[in-house]
Amino acid sequence: MDHFDARGGVLHAEEIDLERLAAEIGTPFYCYSTATIERHYRVFVEGLAGIDRAGGEAPLVAYAVKANPNLSVIATLARLGAGADVVSIGELARARAAGVPAGRIVFSGVGKTEAEIAEALGAGIYQFNVESEAELGTLSRIAVAAGAIATVALRVNPGIEAQTHAKISTGGDTSKFGIQAARIPAAYALAASLPGLRAVGIGVHIGSQLTSLEPLEAAFAQLGGLATTLRAQGNSVERIDLGGGLGIPYRAGTAPPPTPADYGALVARATRGWGVRLLFEPGRMIVGNAGVLIARVITVKAGARGTFVVVDAAMNDLLRPSLYGAWHDIVAVRPRAGTMTATVVGPVCESGDTFAEDRALPVLEAGDLVAFMTAGAYGATMASTYNSRPLVPEVLVDGARHAVVRPRLSIETLIGLDRIAPWLKEPA
Ligand code: LLP
Repeated sequence: MDHFDARGGVLHAEEIDLERLAAEIGTPFYCYSTATIERHYRVFVEGLAGIDRAGGEAPLVAYAVKANPNLSVIATLARLGAGADVVSIGELARARAAGVPAGRIVFSGVGKTEAEIAEALGAGIYQFNVESEAELGTLSRIAVAAGAIATVALRVNPGIEAQTHAKISTGGDTSKFGIQAARIPAAYALAASLPGLRAVGIGVHIGSQLTSLEPLEAAFAQLGGLATTLRAQGNSVERIDLGGGLGIPYRAGTAPPPTPADYGALVARATRGWGVRLLFEPGRMIVGNAGVLIARVITVKAGARGTFVVVDAAMNDLLRPSLYGAWHDIVAVRPRAGTMTATVVGPVCESGDTFAEDRALPVLEAGDLVAFMTAGAYGATMASTYNSRPLVPEVLVDGARHAVVRPRLSIETLIGLDRIAPWLKEPA
């Protein structure tokens, strides 16, 4: 469900005509819908209405900033009470700059540096999700030196395949993430014994774009068992972090993934009687359908085996199709009558710069605008400047108003980041 609809034959973002917006902003650009972001956050929270609340405490929904770290996107969610799940010092800075209180920030990640740990500790974040025994030692040392107490949850690697794309599956035996379940009791005892640490719980995140709840159910069951074991050993377990990962519909007409209500029902069932505060780290589910990438057709050309539609966005702007073979629906902003089959590509000098192969599309001509749908998550944030293409602007729409929430990077700014080495400034 999103707020991108055709009105009078033209695709709109809420009240905003995307053809007019493209004329103002220039293409390509990302456009986000506030109403969609807010709706998805609320639907996610409402889905959790039936869960047990330890001590009456509401769950913490810590938006996974990596999905879309634009300050305005984070700020939109912060105003609704969302926390933030961050994985770097940069994401921590973004979350704080966007108004997320430190007490709602969770720091995840398999390779936190000492500088990052010190910064997060100084900020007084809610929780570190620790991914190794060695990280416990580092965290303890830094906390003691700072005279602080770090609140710690252990990320469990449950050895469960998430049944998603291999590159975004994070809970299997070959994954770098988390601590194997068999080592958790000893690691928890270590956390409880080290100075400067307060061990509060465990967590899991098994992968992204999950379209089946079964792997999650198995992972949650494992967490429940571990909590019982840890408590039997005399530990306190106050919090359990269930991560993110809920999939979203990318392709019109295909079976939709489980809904937030389905997910919430599973959580309620799986966590009954746990007596903990639950944490969640949804990313894609909140922002994925809330964004589109608008591009203009540069040319339509004949190939040996079919037609190519060359647009002015490329793999550097939206990497998902190239990297994961991901599907994004492609919609004409002002559809013409008739259909065509074409391969949609960008201008980058790689054959992998392909958005869609032999796709059935409305007839497109040079100058037409297209929208890559469901590009709000892992879109702009995974962009690069490959081929010296400047990062594209991001626009946030709210009803009938809009704001450029990241201006287009100018070529001058882009190349101005380089320096000519001193010896190259002298004559050869
Ligand atoms: N928590 C942790 C520890 C994570 O690593 C992630 C995502 C999330 C939460 C949020 O997961 P979500 O709810 O968004 O599924 N670039 C890929 C997705 C990478 C996901 C990485 N971790 C893509 O474009 O599909």
